[in-house]
Amino acid sequence: MVTGASSGIGAEFARRLARDGYALILVARRREQLEHLAGELGGAEILTGDLTSDEDLARVEARIAASPDLDLLVNNAGFGTRGRFWEAPLEGQERMHRLHVMATMRLTRAALAVMVPRGGGGIINVSSVAGFGQSPGNISYCATKTWMNSFTEGLDLELRGARSPVRVQALCPGFTITEFHEAMGASREGIPAWLWMRAADVVDASLRGLQQGRVFVVPGAIYKLVVFLEKLTPRALRSAAVIGAARRANRSKTA
Ligand SMILES: NC(=O)c1ccc[n+]([C@@H]2O[C@H](COP(=O)([O-])OP(=O)(O)OC[C@H]3O[C@@H](n4cnc5c(N)ncnc54)[C@H](OP(=O)(O)O)[C@@H]3O)[C@@H](O)[C@H]2O)c1
Repeated sequence: MVTGASSGIGAEFARRLARDGYALILVARRREQLEHLAGELGGAEILTGDLTSDEDLARVEARIAASPDLDLLVNNAGFGTRGRFWEAPLEGQERMHRLHVMATMRLTRAALAVMVPRGGGGIINVSSVAGFGQSPGNISYCATKTWMNSFTEGLDLELRGARSPVRVQALCPGFTITEFHEAMGASREGIPAWLWMRAADVVDASLRGLQQGRVFVVPGAIYKLVVFLEKLTPRALRSAAVIGAARRANRSKTA
């Protein structure tokens, strides 16, 4: 099952998993895009639903409960917003927490309820490099992706502690060419070309990492370096750099 399969990284997961011979369940809100993808893949089950809605989420949970042989769940559906926390509409912040946190938590629980007793399966939570730090103007996004990282790491510890072979992964991509930036009304201009990754390469790294049992997968050498440096840099220094950058951006906007 792949959530957010109607575009971007989710659609790429679906293409790659279909090539690998999986029977797919595709989840997202836009039926037309899902039907188009299912046609391209030579068939797939389609579940349309808004994962921020309790009712739709319950339908997806029920579908998982009815799939005792579920091999893989990819919690990929997600979106970004822009603006300072106290200025951005609350509705978008709430929806983001429902999608990145509540939907991930509930679908993961439903999947583990079939995978753990069976003794097999895997869950990939599509997080972000943004989950390793904070970025003004984007703080709910960073916070929810940090939650995903922590949740996945904790689950891995529980599963290994229980000697379960079920594997979990937090996939943490950097800038990836998808509909993500367009959907949040942001431009891709100004971000250097060498920072952009292809969704297919992100998916490749993730599935390789799953085979190797890696809990955190950061695709691309440049982002591995960014995460490494972020971990090495003292928090006070990181905060000073981020505040300085936010103030400079603010000055150039008002100038
Ligand atoms: N692109 C990047 O630079 C980047 C970097 C790091 C992490 N990520 C993460 O990668 C994941 C996939 O994003 P993407 O880059 O592939 O962007 P995308 O092309 O915009 O895809 C987002 C997917 O999520 C689905 N979705 C959004 N809201 C939903 C909802 N309420 N219920 C059900 N499905 C919903 C969308 O489908 P519908 O609109 O049809 O519902 C779409 O299929 C996200 O979790 C994102 O945070 C992206």
